[in-house]
Amino acid sequence: MPGKRKIAIAGGKPTRGKFLPFHRPWFGAEEERELVATLRSGWVTRGERAEEFEKRFAEYTGAKYAVGLNSCTAALHLSLLSLGIKPGDEVITSPITFASTVNVIEHCGAKPVFADVLPDDLNIDPEQIRKKLSRKTKAILPVHFAGFPCQMDEILSLAKKRGIAVVEDAAHAIETRFQGKKIGVLKSAAACFSFYATKNITTGEGGMLTTNDPKIEEQVRILSLHGISRDAWKRYGLEGYRHWDILMPGYKYNMFDLQAALGLCQMKKIDTFWKRRKQIVDRYNQAFSDEPALKLLSCSPEHKPAYHLYVLVIRTEMLRADRDQIMNAVQAEGIGIGIHFRSVPEHPYYREKYGYRKGALPIAEYVTERVLSIPLFPAMTDREADEVIAAVKKVIGYYRK
Ligand SMILES: Cc1ncc(COP(=O)(O)O)c(C=O)c1O
Repeated sequence: MPGKRKIAIAGGKPTRGKFLPFHRPWFGAEEERELVATLRSGWVTRGERAEEFEKRFAEYTGAKYAVGLNSCTAALHLSLLSLGIKPGDEVITSPITFASTVNVIEHCGAKPVFADVLPDDLNIDPEQIRKKLSRKTKAILPVHFAGFPCQMDEILSLAKKRGIAVVEDAAHAIETRFQGKKIGVLKSAAACFSFYATKNITTGEGGMLTTNDPKIEEQVRILSLHGISRDAWKRYGLEGYRHWDILMPGYKYNMFDLQAALGLCQMKKIDTFWKRRKQIVDRYNQAFSDEPALKLLSCSPEHKPAYHLYVLVIRTEMLRADRDQIMNAVQAEGIGIGIHFRSVPEHPYYREKYGYRKGALPIAEYVTERVLSIPLFPAMTDREADEVIAAVKKVIGYYRK
């Protein structure tokens, strides 16, 4: 019977013999050459390549300043610290995000306050933010989920009215444009990008903070290198040793040249990567649009998504299986998957500390049990994309009520 082919987990033949990983980075001869050149240069820590990568990234986004860091998590943490977020303060953010967006609020001793998301793109809902504002709110931390832009006009105007700052979690949003404007030049205090292994461009681990505020740039630079005076990284350089001063107890968060060597090569391919991502997204959208058990995410055509993740929301109420059964069945077909994300306030630490009540964030709760991300990376072939489609359709067909 069509739609009821035996799935691999129930003893059928898997769609793919060889497992397709959720992600495979795209490095070429250029990256290899640049890494070797960096090793041979005798300077592997923060140096000229990191400076150059910052310059290129600032040019790409149009932001005045870009600071290279060892992760987006570091960028988020230092953004909040540079804004003076401290114990007693509240920061409003999205429940549908990665651990670090929320952990950094805790690291500052502040309280994360969650505003529910919108069903179409799973981005924070400005109306829900408005409801969560209090006298203690000091910042809003929207997350451009999967590369879809948040409603930044409304978020920035809310923040302006209250005199509070906005820090953007742009880990998924390097190429994203909101109403034609790149993330990084909107009127937020800072935007934080990730170059983690699975991101749209990667340095293995790494991050970048962009800002137009010279005070934030200065603070972040100093805090990222132990809190010691600006340009202390030059202390072993050709200009000879110079004394440095500890200005504040900072962190060890700086980017180094081996990362930047990769970043500089990856920047050159960013548009090629994005175009390939879009082709795969179009292929998936076309294949899944007539499947009633799948809700596809979308945003208004006035924006440009980065297409970082392809997230399916599985309407499990139409199936005889829950998301985890479907997840296991798709993996048994030979397809790697990801879950982005289970609602952060429902995780043990946050649930126990702040006492999450069921029903408080209904959309986040609904999607927590239904999201499933399928492979989306530029090195994928059309054939691999078609196998992903076939595997998902086979599993959904098998479990249909
Ligand atoms: C939404 C979001 N924010 C922040 C991060 C943290 O990025 P990094 O690993 O560069 O610290 C991630 C990483 O996956 C993420 O998905």
